[in-house]
Amino acid sequence: MTVNRQWIYARKPNGQIGAGNFDLKEAAVPKAAEGEVVVRSTMLQFDAASRAWMQGQTYRSQLNPGDVMAGRGIGEVIESKADGFAAGDMVMSDIGWQTHAALPARQVQKLDKSVAPELHLSVYGITGLTAYFGLLDVGRPRPGETVLVSAAAGAVGVLVGQIAKLMGCRAVGTASDDAKCKWLVDDVGFDAAVNYRQGNLNANLKAACPRGVDVYFDNTGGDVLGAALSRMNMWGRVACCGAVANYDTATPSPGPAGVPGFLVTKRIRMEGFVVMDFFNRQREALLQIKSWVDDGKLKPVVDIVEGFEKMPETLVGMFAGKNRGKLLVRV
Ligand SMILES: NC(=O)c1ccc[n+]([C@@H]2O[C@H](COP(=O)([O-])OP(=O)(O)OC[C@H]3O[C@@H](n4cnc5c(N)ncnc54)[C@H](OP(=O)(O)O)[C@@H]3O)[C@@H](O)[C@H]2O)c1
Repeated sequence: MTVNRQWIYARKPNGQIGAGNFDLKEAAVPKAAEGEVVVRSTMLQFDAASRAWMQGQTYRSQLNPGDVMAGRGIGEVIESKADGFAAGDMVMSDIGWQTHAALPARQVQKLDKSVAPELHLSVYGITGLTAYFGLLDVGRPRPGETVLVSAAAGAVGVLVGQIAKLMGCRAVGTASDDAKCKWLVDDVGFDAAVNYRQGNLNANLKAACPRGVDVYFDNTGGDVLGAALSRMNMWGRVACCGAVANYDTATPSPGPAGVPGFLVTKRIRMEGFVVMDFFNRQREALLQIKSWVDDGKLKPVVDIVEGFEKMPETLVGMFAGKNRGKLLVRV
């Protein structure tokens, strides 16, 4: 291809995001400067947090209208002026929503071509590491305990539930429809799942977690966080991973009432984390994750959409809960 197709984050959303917030543009395919590689993207990933990047500074700088939409992905090196890289290498980087990118070599990771790209971007990528460190280091589950995870059918959540089972815990998830909940129990191996949009959330969580909740892995914030806190056991742990319920709205939830007193009386530890903080231990985590996957104990779950032109509508669908597992686009 002789042009670089780019999705530009063109207009700031006012409330919920729509495909109209993005424009498709064409630019010249870049050339590599000294120390750079040019990559042709083959698979791009979606992160729920990308909606938060549009609102302000997070763990990365804010995205501004006019920027190429940000996001990680995998591609093939087509030109290299950097030591250690050659045309044909499979690499991962913050490519952005574009078919080609010139990237400094220090921001590019060379990948093992014998592993499928969708696995590099899911179970062996940020998603897998987030589930692993967030649950095991922050949540610290013990055998026999109950682990509850929100957005359980999503990329991080579906791995958290499976790792909780590997730790000998009862795994319970929340998701936005009955079909997803049934799939979590029948196909993924959760012990129970609750449709958080059905109403009676407190009563349904109580039924699904009859011995209370020892670890709550919070991907959402909002109503599910409030209901989960009310089910926490003494000395419970809340691993705050993300707040997707607050990303795609002009009116974020003020959060559950009465939290400080509640945390004190029940001696609950509520701790936020960012996966980058654990990168010095990623080798250890990946060895463990790979051995679980190789033994068939941890099932990678990916949701691949075909076609670069579908990027905006696919991101919109994530906030409607359309994905199961890691949402990716094959370019
Ligand atoms: N701390 C870190 O280092 C780190 C790293 C990676 C990701 N994260 C966080 O992990 C969470 C999951 O991210 P992901 O990229 O793996 O996405 P994901 O779970 O694959 O997709 C997002 C899911 O969130 C649910 N959702 C969307 N809008 C919602 C709303 N208004 N209320 C409640 N649920 C809603 C949807 O499922 P249902 O509605 O069907 O449940 C959707 O499938 C996010 O909060 C993200 O920010 C944190």
